[in-house]
Amino acid sequence: MDLDARFQAAVNIAEEAATLALQFFERRSELTVELKGLQDHVTKADREVEALIRKRLHERFPEDALLGEEQGGGGSNDTKALWVIDPIDGTTNFVRGLPHWGVCIAFCKDEEPELSVIINPVLREKYVARRARGAMCNDRPLAVSKTPKLSEAVLGMGSSKKSPHEPYVDVLGKLLAEGIEYRRIGCASMNLAAVASGKLDSFFEAKLSPWDALPGMLLVKEAGGRCNDYLEGDGLLKGNSVLATNGPLYDVLAAAFGVWTEY
Ligand code: IPD
Ligand code: CA
Repeated sequence: MDLDARFQAAVNIAEEAATLALQFFERRSELTVELKGLQDHVTKADREVEALIRKRLHERFPEDALLGEEQGGGGSNDTKALWVIDPIDGTTNFVRGLPHWGVCIAFCKDEEPELSVIINPVLREKYVARRARGAMCNDRPLAVSKTPKLSEAVLGMGSSKKSPHEPYVDVLGKLLAEGIEYRRIGCASMNLAAVASGKLDSFFEAKLSPWDALPGMLLVKEAGGRCNDYLEGDGLLKGNSVLATNGPLYDVLAAAFGVWTEY
């Protein structure tokens, strides 16, 4: 299986998709915002960007399987060669004109995340990662922070209507009492990219879908961070909790959030 070809294709396709997404973003007042669930938005932009990514990937690698947020896919027989796609991660930010959203693509071989690309065309950031080969933003190598203790840490946290908010609020209260600062960017992949870049010291969200989690978790691992075992159980196809940290803070945060298994 040619992973180099898949990596180059993922970068090229994500760039084309990010250009299309940015065109929609600049004319977002024309979009009709539909609801998939409580506070869960979708627009023509999400659908058309995913359709473009799927078309291009299928043209190049017709034998590979596709799993995407808007069109689904990804059965239990599809894990040998699986593309995971979020056409727009952070749709709520996108429809409100906030800059934190991104086009996300990852590829998994035999259930192992091998490569990923995340592009935020508003901030002009292109993040890429290859397993065991590092992670970069706009061709600069990424490294996680070295922050050793909670009283110096700035943590990213996310929550959605997919999981109850009470544990989030309880743990946040305890961590605030330990002296943390925190940010709520509203886009999982951008939070994970910020951890990989050393801008945040960790990110936690109680339940994330594979297209929200896998591209950014590979960035964090390749930037030297420590993450929970997202693939545990049926994580690859059904999602899981995400804890991605700079390393020194992994143990204390894993205990705080009750996320036990490290990947
Ligand atoms: C969402 C965002 C959000 C997170 C949600 C995700 P979407 O992705 O990443 O920050 O809290 O859990 O579903 O729906 O905008 O692609
Ligand atoms: Ca999305």
